[in-house]
This record gives sequence, structure tokens and C-alpha cells, in this order.
Amino acid sequence: MGGFDASAYGRAIADVYDEMVEHLPTGPAVERVVRLAEGGPILEFGIGTGRLALPLAARGLAVSGIDASPDMVAVLRGKPGGDRIPVTIGDFSEVRAEGRFALVLLAFNTVFALPSQDAQVRCFHNAAAHLRPGGRFVIEAWVPDPTAFHDRTSLRLLSLSDDEVVVEAARLSPAEQFMHTTRLRMTPDGLRLLPANHRYAWPCELDLMARLAGMRREHRWADWSGAPFTDDSRAHVSVYRLLES
Ligand SMILES: C[S@@+](CC[C@H](N)C(=O)[O-])C[C@H]1O[C@@H](n2cnc3c(N)ncnc32)[C@H](O)[C@@H]1O
Repeated sequence: MGGFDASAYGRAIADVYDEMVEHLPTGPAVERVVRLAEGGPILEFGIGTGRLALPLAARGLAVSGIDASPDMVAVLRGKPGGDRIPVTIGDFSEVRAEGRFALVLLAFNTVFALPSQDAQVRCFHNAAAHLRPGGRFVIEAWVPDPTAFHDRTSLRLLSLSDDEVVVEAARLSPAEQFMHTTRLRMTPDGLRLLPANHRYAWPCELDLMARLAGMRREHRWADWSGAPFTDDSRAHVSVYRLLES
């Protein structure tokens, strides 16, 4: 897509990212990935500030990453152990990292940061190219819910405390399966606008992308704890395995 800048998200959010993801279920995610990696090594697409990568490395697993944002990776580098994780700067739908991995991880809806179906299909192929035979590609993403929109727009309160309010304004383009969002973060320091766009896909479309890349779904849960995925699930953790050839 013309004008797509994979580093834009990180440039806008890197300095406040860690504060904004404190509520995420990082512990259960790490436990699940440790079990699925069976000793590793692990490659994380969109490694960011190391929210998952650093605790995974602390569990003794070899972890590498790819990220398009030098700003996010600079935050990772500033943390204890962050300078020991090999990171390739580039677009994870295209760039190659050195090595073959037991598991490729793409967490926290980041597959939707890719701007088109073509880019997402390339991403699945790139994950497969980094996996050992039988290796796993693990994706965490939300389930699209067009019913949450009125006139294709929505305004949601995401968090509220005495010193922080986060609101998300979103506009849906169903024909393109695209959701434009800007989060407004209000703190005593002022107002920050945090844009993030999503080319969203239903879980079954991701399954098809996996098949195109020579992978098959092994698991789908509603969350990292392994809760069953049901009609009411608003998110999923999906595990694909590269077929042994
Ligand atoms: C929402 S953050 C997730 C960071 C980390 N995985 C976590 O779970 O906390 C998304 C990360 O993916 C990176 N990213 C987004 N699109 C990318 C792309 N096409 N190629 C490489 N990195 C990308 C961003 O720079 C950012 O660091």
C-alpha cells in the first residue's frame, strides 16, 4: 500500500508504550509460549519494547526479534538484558532474521498492523520461512465485531483513573476490512494522540493464510490461559504448525 510506514506506530507511542500495556496478561502469555516453544529458540515479530521477549529470555529461551521501529527497540535496549537480544530492524512481512526457530510469535493484534491482505499473506509465508519443520506460529488477535459500531464509528472508554483517561475513537471501513483508530490519552501532562490502523481479518481468514504458507491450525483459544474459543469470544490465541515435509 502506497505511503505505508511500518515505523509510524512506534514513533508515536514508544515513550509511553510500557505504561499503556501494564494491564495486559503478560504472565499467562509467557507461560503459554514457554510451553509451546518446547525449549526454543523463539523469534518475535514486532518485538517492541520486549514486554514478552525479556521474560521469555529470563526463562532461559533464546529470543530474537524483528521490529520496524527504532524507537521501540531503543526502549528495549535500555532495559536489563535488552542489549543481548538480537533484533533485525525491518518489516516482519518481508525481512529475514538469522536462524531457524521452534516458534514465531506475533502478539497483541500486531498482524492487523499490516495494511493489506497481501502483506498479511506475506507475513505468514515469512513466519513459515523462519520455522523449523513442525515449528509453531502463534498469533494473538481480536475478533472483529462490526456490531460495536454505530454509523461505522465508535468511541470507547478504555481506562479511567484519577490521573489517566484513555479513549479510543474508531472508524470502520467494512469494504476494505479496515479500522482507523486514534487513542486519546489524557494525563496531567496533557493530551496525546496515538494513531493505530488495523487491516482486520476474521480467524478463519488467518487459518487460510496459514494454509497458503504450508501450516495447519493446531489450537485456538480465547486467551493465553487456554479458555475455550466460543461464539462470544472477542479475541483469540491461535497456534499454527509448519507441516513436516
Ligand atoms: C502493539 S506493539 C507490540 C509489541 C510487543 N510484541 C508486545 O506484545 O508488547 C507492535 C509492535 O510491532 C511493530 N510493528 C508494527 N508493524 C510492523 C511491521 N510491519 N514490521 C515490523 N514491526 C512492526 C511496532 O513497531 C511495535 O513495536
